[in-house]
Amino acid sequence: MCGIIGYVGRKEQRDILLGGLRRLEYRGYDSAGIAVQRNGSLVMTKVKGKIRDLEKAASSLDLTGSVGIAHTRWATHGEPNDINAHPHTCCGNRIALVHNGIIENYQSLRTLLKERDHHFTSDTDTEVLVHLVEEHLKDSYGHSLEEAVRLALNEVEGTYGIAVIDAEQPGVLVAARRGSPLLLGIGSDEYFVGSDVAAFAEYTREIVYLNDDEMAVLSPDGYLVKNLQAEEMNPDVEKITWELGQIEKGGFDHFMLKEIREQPQTVLDALRGRVRPDTGQVKLGGLQDHQDLLKNAKRIIFTSCGTSWHASLIGRRLIEEFVRLPAEVEYASEFRYSTPVFTPGTVLIAVSQSGETADTLAALHLAKEEGIPCLGVVNVVGSSIARETDTGVYLHAGPEIGVASTKAFTSQVTVLSQISLLMAQLRGTLTEERQKEIAGELVRLPGKIQQILDDTDCIEKIADQFAGADNALYLGRGYSFPVALEGALKLKEISYIHAEGYPAAEMKHGPIALIDDDMPAVILAPGDHVYEKVVSNIEEIRARRGRVLAVATEGNEAMADLADWVIYVPETLDCFYPLLTVIPLQLLAYYVAVRRGCNIDQPRNLAKSVTVE
Ligand code: F6R
Repeated sequence: MCGIIGYVGRKEQRDILLGGLRRLEYRGYDSAGIAVQRNGSLVMTKVKGKIRDLEKAASSLDLTGSVGIAHTRWATHGEPNDINAHPHTCCGNRIALVHNGIIENYQSLRTLLKERDHHFTSDTDTEVLVHLVEEHLKDSYGHSLEEAVRLALNEVEGTYGIAVIDAEQPGVLVAARRGSPLLLGIGSDEYFVGSDVAAFAEYTREIVYLNDDEMAVLSPDGYLVKNLQAEEMNPDVEKITWELGQIEKGGFDHFMLKEIREQPQTVLDALRGRVRPDTGQVKLGGLQDHQDLLKNAKRIIFTSCGTSWHASLIGRRLIEEFVRLPAEVEYASEFRYSTPVFTPGTVLIAVSQSGETADTLAALHLAKEEGIPCLGVVNVVGSSIARETDTGVYLHAGPEIGVASTKAFTSQVTVLSQISLLMAQLRGTLTEERQKEIAGELVRLPGKIQQILDDTDCIEKIADQFAGADNALYLGRGYSFPVALEGALKLKEISYIHAEGYPAAEMKHGPIALIDDDMPAVILAPGDHVYEKVVSNIEEIRARRGRVLAVATEGNEAMADLADWVIYVPETLDCFYPLLTVIPLQLLAYYVAVRRGCNIDQPRNLAKSVTVE
């Protein structure tokens, strides 16, 4: 959701800023811009389109200088065009500012600033920020850029990650955050700001996370972090643990395909050192000191969005089956504005790949305010949700760049399985034998996922047939219902085919009206305890000439007569089928989107990490 990079130092900054933007492009890709400070003025360009369009526009500019900022946008206020692109500048063209977030009181500030003769050019909420900073920089006040930004931020409501430079203050960059991610990269005699560490990971491995209501002042000589009352803070410097190769395509055509194919490894990484198949025991570092909480919990509420919400639906079933505890799943965007009843013993689990999703963060705040213990199941280390929950479990899936989430989903389900198993172990709700059976199967899953990925020819052939569809129905029951939702989401978000996920038996309460020979139905039919019921649902579709793609368990020869197409997955326990059956659905969506010529890693209207509500 908008990507920011800023640099102060003595290197040639064109490649640093444009290269950083390319790594952030997954966050937003409708327009982009760059500004550097040079000989007492600003050199700037911004364009509608992708980073490659910005590179063309910037090719004739001299971007040498000691400080610069750049931005890739996902529009909230004002359509994507050259004028609404960031950076924004003030009336005197002295200040340039990039912003990720939403300024909620921008209308009243705009009116006020217009009364003071500020001239606005864009339709964005962001532009008020730069005029407000200008107002505080006016000679009569004599403020530094740092002070002007601080005073301006004290007047705004909403969320922001910003980076600001001033033509008249050489080598100084001011950054600040509230509710939108921003971190600093600490090099030697050079410093970076970025919405994500990927922006500058090739130059430094040392980072400082900014907290909400903190600002940083960077120059080639050093950096300072302060709060909005101008008090100096003493932040920890942390190290990036992953390798640069993890944020590169590594020979794959798309990040999405690379990430789908990484899943045997990422599921293994989510299990590594945590589960012992010989004893059935689970040990999760982050929960070691919170065993009483897990033992005494009376109810679990999961909150999340999108794909993470689908993983949470599986988490809920796992908790109910393994721990016999009531569990619910709430859309974070609904939960945050509801009046939930938190009964004693409630524990909240926030599930998020990015750890920055604005709605999930707000839902977490709501629970925290009520004194509810909160756990995080998060991928991005050091992200807001990871830091604001009482404790949690990391996915260790490595950076997920493809906008459509794939490997995060399977890692989330793997971690939720282990949390459920750990709770069962602490509360004695499963027999030792069953505990061992589940743990033993968990560690076999990476190999089974690999088996599916080793032979994808049949999925590609089916994709040829699906590529012309306008609609598709995804159906599943029990543990497979969330997989139906996830499969439909994958197809619609990257191929733009309209797809709906439904509990298979709900079909006859309405959606069956849509079935005809133009409407393919994807049916999750693994060999679990509801298999026979799902077969009846397949018959109902066939009776109406619907075409059926079934995902079934290896060895189920009968399915070949029932369905038009079958994709087989290895056998596993009922509760783990989602980790296998989702893989062909991810691949199907991917191959269909390739055949339709879609931009897979940057689907229209979408962006990774939804940091606005
Ligand atoms: C879909 C997708 C989104 C995210 C959702 C939550 O492919 O990626 O639905 O799952 O925006 O994001 P996180 O998990 O970062 O909180």
